[in-house]
Amino acid sequence: MTPTPPLAVVVLAAGRGTRMRSARPKVLHELAGLPMLAHVLRTAQGLEPAHLAVVVRHERDAVAAAVAEHAPEALLVDQDEVAGTGRALEVAVQALGGFEGDVLVLSGDVPGTGAPTLDPLLRAHREGGHSVTIVTARPADPSGYGRVIRDGQGLVERIVEHRDASDAQRAVDEINAGVYLFRTDGLAARLAALSGGNAQGERYLTDVVAALRTEGHRVGAVETSVDQVAGVNDRAQLAAAARRMNDAIVLRHQLAGVTVLDPLTTWIDATVTLAEDVEVRANTQLLRATTAGAGAVIGPDTTLVDCEVGERARVNRTDGTLAVIGAEAQVGPFAYLRAGTVLHAGGKIGTFVETKNAEIGAGSKVPHLSYIGDTVVGERSNIGANTITANYDGVHKHRTVVGSAVRTGSHNVFVAPVVIGDGVYTGAGTVVRKDVPPGALALNVAPQRNIQGWVETNRPGTDAARTAAAASGTAEQDEDGDA
Ligand code: UD1
Ligand code: MG
Repeated sequence: MTPTPPLAVVVLAAGRGTRMRSARPKVLHELAGLPMLAHVLRTAQGLEPAHLAVVVRHERDAVAAAVAEHAPEALLVDQDEVAGTGRALEVAVQALGGFEGDVLVLSGDVPGTGAPTLDPLLRAHREGGHSVTIVTARPADPSGYGRVIRDGQGLVERIVEHRDASDAQRAVDEINAGVYLFRTDGLAARLAALSGGNAQGERYLTDVVAALRTEGHRVGAVETSVDQVAGVNDRAQLAAAARRMNDAIVLRHQLAGVTVLDPLTTWIDATVTLAEDVEVRANTQLLRATTAGAGAVIGPDTTLVDCEVGERARVNRTDGTLAVIGAEAQVGPFAYLRAGTVLHAGGKIGTFVETKNAEIGAGSKVPHLSYIGDTVVGERSNIGANTITANYDGVHKHRTVVGSAVRTGSHNVFVAPVVIGDGVYTGAGTVVRKDVPPGALALNVAPQRNIQGWVETNRPGTDAARTAAAASGTAEQDEDGDA
């Protein structure tokens, strides 16, 4: 058996991406939470190549920053003003110096390529002794792609770009996927010999295939499924690629023991981690570095960005970013968890509650209609309905500290900075401006006055006055002579 030749991967990412009509470089448009290019770099890294090179030019610095983030080991290669995929590979091969072996070419705008394509490609190339092996597919609509032209024996003869193709060639449904495996022997010379005599005036990498055939070299091809190789050139193709990638991610989680009730309305980034027996309900987006522990139930109608959901926690109709939700905690419905929210085990952030930079201790609850910001709450405390932390004095943010086993009344305002001690009670409607020592009851609401007969005197003839008059027998028992 001949030894496996060393492998270099070249990712082409220098093109303009004109059809995206975007200020952002095409390869940095995102799907499944990562720039398109990062998906391709991850695929390349999975092959553990001896060299990884990325060709850049358009919006070079932005693309280079993404490469530095997602594949710091990669060699950046600058393409010059000579345009075309052929030139892109040429400068990469030059940058690889005297590298000898196989060069896998991936396009930065084909994010869906993976092992189902690359494993057969590597095998066919090595076993067949090809100078180049191309990847092909048969999409329902081949327009825009280069067409694979085969000879009478079915061998690949050349690739013709859509723009340069005759009507007969355009009728061919087999397309060039833009993924190639080349042997380095003689490749540099063939790339150097490319001309730009085509509709775009660019040096097409695809023309190397015809050159190799003419010189009597073996050109191989492996066909793969369309979703593996769909290129992204405009926003419609971006959405379609994102959909396919999401389908694959959802399937991966399902097979790993996650219940996804409605895959069509569930979006999970490639970077999300879910344990067994997580249940994800309809209309839910789990994004970025979000994780969920075993038995957590998330959704419906929930968006979590960079959140950590504990085991058996329940998160219902919630929008959360950079929040930690403890084991068996409950969130929602209709909760808004902003950055720095930490809800400990068994705690609750309930209905119409907004939290920010707020640590809610184990078993503590903020059940209804509240804003809790820049706050620490101890354990087993209950924050009454409709409580607001007034954390901002117009210039600075201040902290509210609430102890453990505290019971605050409904409709409180905690005017920060303020400290509410352990075991404190507060009355309904209290505006807490001063620290409350442990075990105290804080009150600052004026005594209630009832002005007897006020409605009949001041709103005569109204429904309220008539109904009050009819009920006056009962009303009299409540009078306290304040009229
Ligand atoms: C290319 C192929 C086409 C194939 C299709 C598959 C050529 C000539 N055509 O067409 O046969 O069906 O991909 O998706 O190769 N790039 C550079 N430098 C350049 C030009 C492009 O690095 O000068 C990069 C782009 O950033 C992109 C990739 O090469 O990642 C492909 O370029 P693109 O312009 O999208 O080629 P297609 O028209 O899609
Ligand atoms: Mg393309």
